[in-house]
Order: sequence, then structure tokens, then C-alpha cells
Amino acid sequence: MLKLGVIGTSAISHHFIEAAHASGEYQLVAVYSRKLETAATFASRYQDIQLFEQLEDFLKSPFDVVYIASPNSLHFVQAKAALSFGKHVILEKPAVTQPQEWLDLRQTAEKNHCFIFEAARNYHEEAFTTIKNFLADKQVLGADFNYAKYSSKMPDLLAGHTPNVFSDRFAGGALMDLGIYPIYAAIRLFGKAQDATYQAQQLNNSIDLNGDGILFYPDFQVHIKAGKNITSNLPCEIYTADGTLTLNTIEHVRSAIFTDHQGNQIQLPIQQAPHTMTEEAATFAHMIQQPDQTLYQNWLDDAGSVHDLLYIMRQSAGIRFEAEK
Ligand SMILES: NC(=O)c1ccc[n+]([C@@H]2O[C@H](COP(=O)([O-])OP(=O)(O)OC[C@H]3O[C@@H](n4cnc5c(N)ncnc54)[C@H](OP(=O)(O)O)[C@@H]3O)[C@@H](O)[C@H]2O)c1
Repeated sequence: MLKLGVIGTSAISHHFIEAAHASGEYQLVAVYSRKLETAATFASRYQDIQLFEQLEDFLKSPFDVVYIASPNSLHFVQAKAALSFGKHVILEKPAVTQPQEWLDLRQTAEKNHCFIFEAARNYHEEAFTTIKNFLADKQVLGADFNYAKYSSKMPDLLAGHTPNVFSDRFAGGALMDLGIYPIYAAIRLFGKAQDATYQAQQLNNSIDLNGDGILFYPDFQVHIKAGKNITSNLPCEIYTADGTLTLNTIEHVRSAIFTDHQGNQIQLPIQQAPHTMTEEAATFAHMIQQPDQTLYQNWLDDAGSVHDLLYIMRQSAGIRFEAEK
């Protein structure tokens, strides 16, 4: 059983703890918050939790792995500190805001004999293994992946405030928040793209509300849509020489149906996990307990590719975070 510490006291941390406990591999033991009262309120639904408001004291306490769900621009510094104290790190997506930060975390993890995982949950869904196997003997001609969902923070934004997810200080925006899922799916299925571009509707601080991108592969393109001020109900599609594979969505996939050029259909055997985060929580625990270095290095490489592409796409749209201005 892995002892779990948590940074970040919003709903997503409860959601991850629920999945972690359901996996039977973790026990929450410590919570860090900027305020002790917030940590206490957060922890009140669990038992025997140590509470901290000093990050260093938290990281010195006896747990094995930390789940970090803070605003994006804080991820790098907090993860680096945790690794330096010998903790394995499960870092919410987007793990970093610059490609070189990911390289730094990789090196720091290796030096401290720890694992670092980016919690990009669709990458670890069993559905994508099924889809990849199905595509193995097919010629891919393109794909259309989207993730656009009207944000619960939109009313706040429209009232003149800047919630963290729309803030340049905290490295927010549609591409970083939701666009990362289509990019992870593309890399999981097709490998690293050679180049990428992105155009977006942007706030005055340059942060994107929604946008369209292209990932360029040698023989085809993957079109990406990300949005936080719009909702897309479109399915996702992968075009092959033999027909089209239609996924109901790009994360927490429930159905994948292949339709050939004659209209015949094959339903892929997709088993949707009961909880959006159980597959990644269980996968990370297994990797810590029974390491598979080849697989782990693949994960790190793929995450590096994602962050390279996110950076290129941000530059092409002119999205600049406060630390870069
Ligand atoms: N995997 C998923 O499905 C999923 C879903 C939602 C979000 N996420 C990711 O989870 C992360 C957190 O997202 P969120 O929407 O929960 O963020 P958030 O509400 O803005 O912040 C999360 C936590 O960070 C701390 N925090 C907030 N503002 C801060 C500030 N100015 N300085 C320092 N700490 C601050 C707060 O904890 P304390 O007050 O306790 O310090 C807060 O509970 C993001 O990286 C996001 O992409 C992932």
C-alpha cells in the first residue's frame, strides 16, 4: 500500500483520492494547503490525515507518493521539491509549461530514484491500447480530435475576474487545460508529430478561450479543437484507407465503432472504467511497485513530445505566460 500525500484542495484532488482508494493501492495520509483550515476542511472526510501549511514540513513527512493538483505554473517548482525529498510524483496535466522543465523533472527524478508521472488520464486508458491494436494493420490518413467544454469558471471570467484557468500567471487556457488530451491521444496512437500549429480566440492576456490546431505527421494530419468558452458534442474520428473509426470522445472513451467504405460496422470491445481516474491511479501504483523501465521511459518520452508540441502550438498562436513576458 502506497502512502499518499496531496497538494491542492479543489474537487479534482477528492476525485483522484476516490480513484486511488478504489484501486486498493493507496492510502491518503497527508494534505498540504496554503492554509491549515483549508487542509482540515478538505481532510475532514478522511481519517488519520496529517495536515501541513509549510511545504517543506509536508515533504519531510513519511509518505511515498504525492499527487499535485495546483495551478499549472506551480507544478514544476512543487514537483521538483517533492522529488528532491525522495517522493514519487503524480503531477496533474499539463505537468509543465516549458519543454525544458519536463527534462529537468526527468533528470531530478532519476537522480533521486523516484518516478514522475503526468496525470494525463486518457493516455493510460485501456481503450487506447484496443484502438492502437485495431489500427495496427491499417493505413491512417488523418484524424479529427476535439475536447471543448464550457467552463464552470466562465461566469467568473464574464464578470470581469480572471480565474486561474484563464490566467497567464498560472499558465491557463483551452490548449493547456483540454487540448492536451487530444494531443496525448495522437501521440499514444501515432507517435510524435513532426510539427504543429494552433490559432485561437484569445483574451487580452493572450490566453486562449478556444482554438484549432493541426499536428503534422509525414503522411497525414491530426486536427485538434480545444475550447473552454464553447462545448463541442462532436465525436472524434480516425480516417484510414479501409474506413473510419469513430470514438464517442477523446477521454474516458465509451465506444469505438469502425465503419468501412461499404457501410459495414465493427464495434471495438471497449470497457469504460467506472471512474475517470482509476486506470491511471492503478497504472502508476503498479509501475512504482513493479517497475518496467522500458515502458516508463516511453511514458516520459511521450510526455516530452506532448510538451514540445504544446510549446510550438502556443508560440504559433502567440500565447505567452507571465513568466515568459
Ligand atoms: N485530470 C483532470 O481531470 C483534471 C480536472 C481538473 C483539473 N485538473 C488539473 O488540476 C490542476 C488544478 O486545477 P484546479 O482547477 O483544481 O485549480 P485551482 O482550483 O485553481 O487550484 C487548485 C488548488 O491549488 C491551490 N491554489 C489555488 N490558487 C493558488 C494560488 N494563487 N497560489 C498557490 N496555490 C493556489 C489551492 O489549494 P490550497 O488553497 O489548499 O493551497 C487550490 O485548491 C490543474 O493543473 C488542472 O489542469 C485536472
